[in-house]
Amino acid sequence: MAEYRHVRVLFGEDEIAARNVEIADAVAKREPKDLLVVAVLKGSFMFAADLMRALHRAGMAPQVEFMHISSYYEGTVSSGQVTILKDVESDVRDRDVLLVDDILESGRTLAFAKDLLTARGARVTTCCLLEKPHKRAVNLDADIVGFECPDLFVVGYGMDVAHSFRELPFIGVIEKGDGVSS
Ligand code: IMP
Ligand code: MG
Repeated sequence: MAEYRHVRVLFGEDEIAARNVEIADAVAKREPKDLLVVAVLKGSFMFAADLMRALHRAGMAPQVEFMHISSYYEGTVSSGQVTILKDVESDVRDRDVLLVDDILESGRTLAFAKDLLTARGARVTTCCLLEKPHKRAVNLDADIVGFECPDLFVVGYGMDVAHSFRELPFIGVIEKGDGVSS
């Protein structure tokens, strides 16, 4: 069984849980009508699951849909190509959509999803758990950001490197020396 003693914690479980409560409060303040959370797979699945519960506790009754978008990576660097692997199933016209992603980096993934849902008539609020500053290739900022992330390749809490580490309940950085390049 794999051990994760080489993953350095950047954002711990309690910190993430506390921030999710604040994010849910920020969403509530916008007084969304007929709220639909659209979570971008795969990286945001854990964040979206916790955020759904936080939204419930903040008095909302969101529905949830998933969009699987693939941003092609060469190693750990975005190549700029974005394709849709799975689309939402509901009609989003005239709905308040909370578009949820794990990391805002170049912004291409979020811009692609936001443009698509907006073109279909949704009112889109964007929410990213992490934001890496100074990496933007498109002109887009998220409306709600969980944490500013240092310019490191992070894993855990849904995020992967080569399909591993998604299960970690915290966000961390792989330290050198365990055979996985970061
Ligand atoms: P963007 O399209 O360049 O903004 O990239 C955003 C997507 O790239 C995120 O949804 C993640 O899936 C992935 N990504 C970017 N940086 C990281 C990282 O440090 N760890 C894991 N995934 C990342
Ligand atoms: Mg992603």
